[in-house]
Formats: sequence, C-alpha cells, structure tokens
Amino acid sequence: MNKQLRCPVIAGNWKMNKTPAQAKELLDAMLPLVADAPCKVVVCTPFVDLPVALAACAGINVEVGAQNMHFAESGAFTGEISASMLTEMGVSYVIIGHSERRQYFAETDETVNKKVLAALQAGLKPIVCVGESLQQRENGETDALVSSQVRAALAGVSADRLQDVIIAYEPIWAIGTGKTATSAQANETCGVIRAAVADLYGQDAADRLVIQYGGSMNAGNAAELLAQPHVDGGLIGGASLKAPDFSAIVHAAE
Ligand code: 13P
Repeated sequence: MNKQLRCPVIAGNWKMNKTPAQAKELLDAMLPLVADAPCKVVVCTPFVDLPVALAACAGINVEVGAQNMHFAESGAFTGEISASMLTEMGVSYVIIGHSERRQYFAETDETVNKKVLAALQAGLKPIVCVGESLQQRENGETDALVSSQVRAALAGVSADRLQDVIIAYEPIWAIGTGKTATSAQANETCGVIRAAVADLYGQDAADRLVIQYGGSMNAGNAAELLAQPHVDGGLIGGASLKAPDFSAIVHAAE
C-alpha cells in the first residue's frame, strides 16, 4: 500500500463557533501560518461565515467547506441549504454525517447517502464521517459498524466519483473529550474502512482514497497519528479554533 498516492487533507471543523467578525479575526491569524502548507487545508465554517472565509482564502492554497447541506436541490425545506447554493458561492467541501448531526439532528445512513450523492452531483467534495460510540467499541462492534456506515454512505457512488470523496473516521468517544484514539486504533479502523472500500471499488481505488482521523487531534498528537499508514489527514474540531494549534497540525502532515 502506497501512502504517496494520497495527498493529506487537514480540515478544520469549526462546528457552531465564531460570528463572521470573529471568523475574520481567526482567519487573519491562521491563514498566514498555513498558506505554505505541505498538504491540502480546508476550513469548514458555519454557513454565515462562508462569505468571510471565501474572501479570506481567495488566491491562497486553503479551501472552504460547509458543515452540512440538504439533499434536495430546492424546495419547501425551511432553514436548509442546498449543494448548489454552496457551490455557487465557491465552497468546495462539505462535511456530511458528522456524529453530532446523527445524534442531535436525526441524520441516518440513508440521509447521509442522499447528501453524498447530491453533493457529488453538484461538484462538492463530501467529507463523510463515520465512527463508533464507546459502547460499540467495547462490544467489539467497531469494524462491522464503520464498514456498514461506509457502504451505506457510498451506495450509488460511481467509481469515477470516489476520488472526490473523503472519509473521516471519528470515534464518538474521542470527539471533544480530550481522549484520542491511540495511533494504532486510528490506523486499524482507517484500515478497516479502506478494506471496505476495496471490497466495493477494488484495491487501486481504495489505495487512492483519503481517510482522515478526527477526535481530539491536537498539536501534540497529530504527527504520530498522521504518520500512520492508513491515516491521510485529520478532521479537527477544538484545535482548529486556535491559529497556532491548527497550524502545528497542518505542518505535522509533512
Ligand atoms: P475535536 O477535535 O474537538 O475532538 O472534534 C473532532 C470533530 O468532531 C471534528 O469533526
């Protein structure tokens, strides 16, 4: 397996943090530190911060993502945002199926799949989140669960579109808890995800798929996690809200 086939992607998931003015302040501090990055860098901001982020990232090597979208093109879905609304602004990535959305906003494998298909159709690159709860890990269900989440998310995705998909392995018990998966655990489960994709699309396609780890990744543990053979980047929550920390993670991806 050749890790060189994949360019690491470090994405910040700001979650529901930063007003537009605060977003500008954070980006003004952060972008000079990451613009020369050896990897792809993405900032996924709240919807209302996207114009500020797009303006700040114009002409530099940092892309902008959203944290959710609806699967319908348009219609009577009060409060929702469609994929084409995002692409028209210049947004290039979208996080889909984050565990917080599965837990608090009733996202299911089925809605995740619809959103993945709609994102790709519109030209957005989905960052699809999968991962197990602590109880599922303790019950030995991790491998079966993440494999089935991956299969469900990718149903109907053609082989030629897979290159625009990123999978983020985010164990729920490691999110915002300060409890990181060990590098061995992260690598093992990212490997399970790659095997599930190899099953669906063949080994070559699986070897090209970017798989991120997310869950309490920080400036101190990033280098070891990112050095794992199956870990091709990170989806960063808390540490993406601090310019020096996010920069340290980005530079750990070398
Ligand atoms: P933390 O980095 O804050 O644990 O969050 C991870 C995450 O949920 C990224 O999507």
